[in-house]
Amino acid sequence: MTSTPEDEPGDTEFSLETYRREGLISPPGAEPAAHDGTGRVQLSFTVEDKEAPATQRTVRVPPGVSVFDSASWNGIAIDSTCGGHGTCHKCKVRVSPVTPVTRHDARTFSPAELDVGWRLACLVQATRDHDVVVPPLVTRPKAATVGVGRQVILRPAVQKRYVELTEPTLEDQRSDLARLLDAIDDLEPVPDLHALRRLPKVLREADFKVTAVIVDEALVDVEPGDTTATRYAIAFDLGTTTVVATLLDLVTGTPVGVASMLNKQQPFGADVISRISATMLDPAALGRLQVAASQTLATLAEQVCREGGVDPAQVYEAALAGNATMTALLLGIDPEPLGVAPFVQTTATPPAVLASEVGLELHPGARLALFPALGAYVGGDIVAGMLATGMDRDKRVRLFIDVGTNCEIVLSDGERILSTAAPAGPAFEGGAIRCGMRAADGAIEVVKLGDDVELGVIGDVEPRGLCGSGLVDAVAELVKAGLLDATGRFATDEVAKEIAPTLADRLTYIGQERVFVLHRERPDSDPAESVVLSQRDVRELQFAKAAISTGWTLLMEQLGLEHGDLQQVLLAGSFGSYLSAASAVRIGLVPQLPVLRIVAAGNVAGEGAKMALLSIRERAGALALLEEVTYVELSDRPDFNDRFVDLLAFPT
Ligand code: FES
Repeated sequence: MTSTPEDEPGDTEFSLETYRREGLISPPGAEPAAHDGTGRVQLSFTVEDKEAPATQRTVRVPPGVSVFDSASWNGIAIDSTCGGHGTCHKCKVRVSPVTPVTRHDARTFSPAELDVGWRLACLVQATRDHDVVVPPLVTRPKAATVGVGRQVILRPAVQKRYVELTEPTLEDQRSDLARLLDAIDDLEPVPDLHALRRLPKVLREADFKVTAVIVDEALVDVEPGDTTATRYAIAFDLGTTTVVATLLDLVTGTPVGVASMLNKQQPFGADVISRISATMLDPAALGRLQVAASQTLATLAEQVCREGGVDPAQVYEAALAGNATMTALLLGIDPEPLGVAPFVQTTATPPAVLASEVGLELHPGARLALFPALGAYVGGDIVAGMLATGMDRDKRVRLFIDVGTNCEIVLSDGERILSTAAPAGPAFEGGAIRCGMRAADGAIEVVKLGDDVELGVIGDVEPRGLCGSGLVDAVAELVKAGLLDATGRFATDEVAKEIAPTLADRLTYIGQERVFVLHRERPDSDPAESVVLSQRDVRELQFAKAAISTGWTLLMEQLGLEHGDLQQVLLAGSFGSYLSAASAVRIGLVPQLPVLRIVAAGNVAGEGAKMALLSIRERAGALALLEEVTYVELSDRPDFNDRFVDLLAFPT
């Protein structure tokens, strides 16, 4: 009987307890470790390479994390075929100061080697600062680059093992299952009924040469022959507006299909509050919202499988990052407590469910892993975003802003991480704006003011309205030109003629309201039929940006930080990716910083979902964030209103 470990065995449980048990984080109340007093220990890696000079990397991790995992989290590859379980004896490193010798170390190294600090990396817990030398790799582990510059060593929850079993005899009457489990005894999976039903036939038809398919701790299938080269999973970003699916090849870590579409829940309202209200007004709405979400995911799953040429039955797992309301609605959980004070979730850590339970037609045993959430308004999508941007693993002072109707803000000073949510309202989505529209064909997305108005329009068609990035640009350019003052009031005709004579005739009125005409068919077109920015639109934007800037201002005050301390501002989400950094700075939506420090982070929720599928370590990292991040409630802060009023003005 032989077993060919195509995959690294590893732990497969998605629970904080496992994370603790495995020493990835310290248990509550653990002995304080010897470190620099910042809550982290520092590991200075020297990574040797046969073909290149050694490289140095310093990482900071919570005390108690193994050296192997510290390296893995930070994209430093250490030899291993057991995935950190202490059984392959391949993860050799040299540590100083030396650490206690385990029995596995004693079996692996000579006394002389032990004396100079050779140890198995997965058995060394980093309880103080260490120097670690990593010898050149003998077998290069597979890794994938995802998120914002994150390298993830592939260690999916979906594992396959090809085994060639001895056939039963009168002398060997072990059950089929015992025969199989004996061959993969390092994994100890629990069989699904589907796998048991298939087992006798598949074993005999395939001459007892089969592949066991394991997801987390479940044996989900037994396939004839060697199918270890085909393993797929789908990462979903379930947004309130847009839903994105990425089909991943788990063998290579690469995407093989991507698709997106509008969330089919749109008819119930554009934002989470309208959808929660819908369930409060009509008891049948929850079921309909659940079906709409399921259908959205199912449609996308079908599209990505078609695009990737993959049989959906070869998709063994999915991961989903969504805000707390989207997650609750998908699971058919009453979202009402999320929408009314004191804003409570049913659970912060939704359990993995069968993908079929949410209407996904993948492999019958496929699991759906759901991201945990920090609070009713800092949901799984933001936890996924933090994972993808490495907010908890970067020493830099960084601010993460996901701009939307509800804006989520995370601030890290390299040691402490705070998060909050700010209700920005619908302005950035084009809502409550006279000519506002979503970012679709005909939306003005870029505005430049010179002698004339220069517009960038999505789809290069006749402008029909203004989307969020266009709105921010328009206001920023008008402030720059002096046609809007710091309080957000349009200039008088006299002032406009003096400071911007070629633009002055665009400042006019619709009824009693002052407007600036951004696009008109002819110079004499009726402003009411043109694309305009109104005084009320400017006010809406001021309210939205003041809500957001109050959020990050209060977080920065709490950590004692000034604008100049920020080394990076990450703008997340689809809106953040299109926003002009210069315009965001000019209107005070983000701190006053050089634009090079402001980075569009893209769809980080989707990237986080991919990471969770590619690495169970990263998935556990998402759970650890629940303990590492402090949620700050803004609504009951006595200083909130004063700050908000101060920040309505544009920076001068
Ligand atoms: Fe296999 Fe450490 S990783 S023994």
